[in-house]
Amino acid sequence: MCGIIGYLGKKNAAEEVYCGLERLEYRGYDSAGAAIIAADGKICAVKKQGRVENLKPYLRDIAGAIGIGHTRWATHGKPCDKNAHPHLCGGLALVHNGIIENYAALKAELVADGEEFLSETDSEVIVRLLKRNFKGDLLAALARTVERLKGSYAVMVICEGIDAIAVAKNRSSVILGYGNGEYFCASDEPALAGKCADICVPDDGDFAYITADGIEIYNKTLQRVIREKRPNTAAAQSLDLGGYPHYMLKELHEAPATIKNTAGAFAAVEDKLKAALCGVDRIIILGCGTAYHAGLVGRRYFEQFARVPAECENAGEFRYKNPVVTNKTAVFAISQSGETADTVEAARLALALGAEVVAVTNSLNSALTRIASVTVPVAAGSEICVAATKSYIGQIAALYLSALAFADCDRDGALKRGLAEMSALCGKTLGQVNTYSLANMCALSHGVYFLGRDIDYAVALEGSLKLKEVSYIHSEGYPAGELKHGTLALIDGDTVAVALIFDGGLAEKSCNAVEQVLSRGGRAAVITNVDSVKKRFAGRAQVIGLCACDKFLSPVLSAVAVQKLAYETAAILGRDPDKPRNLAKSVTVE
Ligand code: G6P
Repeated sequence: MCGIIGYLGKKNAAEEVYCGLERLEYRGYDSAGAAIIAADGKICAVKKQGRVENLKPYLRDIAGAIGIGHTRWATHGKPCDKNAHPHLCGGLALVHNGIIENYAALKAELVADGEEFLSETDSEVIVRLLKRNFKGDLLAALARTVERLKGSYAVMVICEGIDAIAVAKNRSSVILGYGNGEYFCASDEPALAGKCADICVPDDGDFAYITADGIEIYNKTLQRVIREKRPNTAAAQSLDLGGYPHYMLKELHEAPATIKNTAGAFAAVEDKLKAALCGVDRIIILGCGTAYHAGLVGRRYFEQFARVPAECENAGEFRYKNPVVTNKTAVFAISQSGETADTVEAARLALALGAEVVAVTNSLNSALTRIASVTVPVAAGSEICVAATKSYIGQIAALYLSALAFADCDRDGALKRGLAEMSALCGKTLGQVNTYSLANMCALSHGVYFLGRDIDYAVALEGSLKLKEVSYIHSEGYPAGELKHGTLALIDGDTVAVALIFDGGLAEKSCNAVEQVLSRGGRAAVITNVDSVKKRFAGRAQVIGLCACDKFLSPVLSAVAVQKLAYETAAILGRDPDKPRNLAKSVTVE
């Protein structure tokens, strides 16, 4: 799992590979490496544990015009130099994104035949098989090698004595880039932003052979094929921190603009979405992590406005449960990156089962948008912090508008205007909400339990995820009414319960849970916009008061509060919220 990049042209390949790796680092930062065919024709490789920037001093002096690189999110073998890619063997260097499911059997076979492995990775079997298959024709050897592989792979290979990059792909993404006398291959389009005029997305099973004469694409049986080229429209990410200490805080402050821009962008797809959803009688929303949590909020919009059955499922679970889907089912697949393997594969399955697939994403040229018949844009711009902030709020806005369009229940536009007003309210909340004292309490605690009912519960799950992602404090999200059925046993003076209460009608019920915590000596906080709740807990619990708003749009405000709380807790503990340990922004393997 990881990001991979290849360059062949007239420029310094080490610099081009490094630039690509910086852009792909969101896919993993356990280690990074590059291999360049140097001036003497030999492969010169560098691999280092940790972030891409660790490579910089070593790449500076490598001259050469052909190179490949890799940034890793460890799946097989711990993060360390020896497990970093590229894997080298017999004048070959290989980078791999994906998982080789039969690697153990292949490795055993190779070891029995005398092969010595240098790493604990699944990827190394590919280069060792390749070496055995190589008889002078790199592409033919690669084709023979991948015949033995089960699983997902995007592979790039270079070879001493051959001025080419050979590429193979199956269920992991590869984009080919056509520049002016130079060629690229990369895991995603943003890595190629501004680098080349045209791009092409090869099919699963395809190979590409890149030389100074161009890119040749071959199918599984090594027949030459033509795949459609299109203009490269990807925009480069702005890496400017804008005066903020971290991207997480900067991006949180971009939430109001995200709501506004998402509403603006929706107008262009509204009619297409309505047409695609015509006759649909059931909605399934899929996503992973934060996107899944946005789906839990969105499900309520479809139920409330359209009164159709709406479910939200973890995309990784959906794939393996023989899901019930008909041609009257619409599947909304949510993904900030549009590259999360579980979500992309779940969407592909839904499509195969006859569903209408709608993508809800920031990344308009991603694997997910290539599967969907309609894409509802989340106009959040690029999100660099691994922990999602503005994209979650944008996803909620996109789902709100999608549900209104499907239900066709907002003829006078009042509900849409309600969302537009949330942009300003969100900005006001960002300026006023004070979570610092609660963050101090959380930073000293052994566990933080986020509680809520209905739509507040959906946000409680995201609040909990955010806190654990960036602060490493144990946390759970619970339905407020469920606390007493087990989790109450964990409440003591070292734990904190944070109740989200944004629905006046359910307030009394949620308050009961807070009382249960307080009466057992636990510490509690309420994040609420209900006046009676603010008064009730003043002096007994930490009270974070927010302004009144429509119950269905309250997740926009409660999300801001829990995201800020997580950020401040991480800052107090000295964690790096932008690149939390063990995580990647998008996980492109199962
Ligand atoms: C990873 C990230 C999460 C993110 C999830 C889904 O697990 O660490 O923060 O929510 O992927 O990402 P997506 O790009 O599909 O929204």
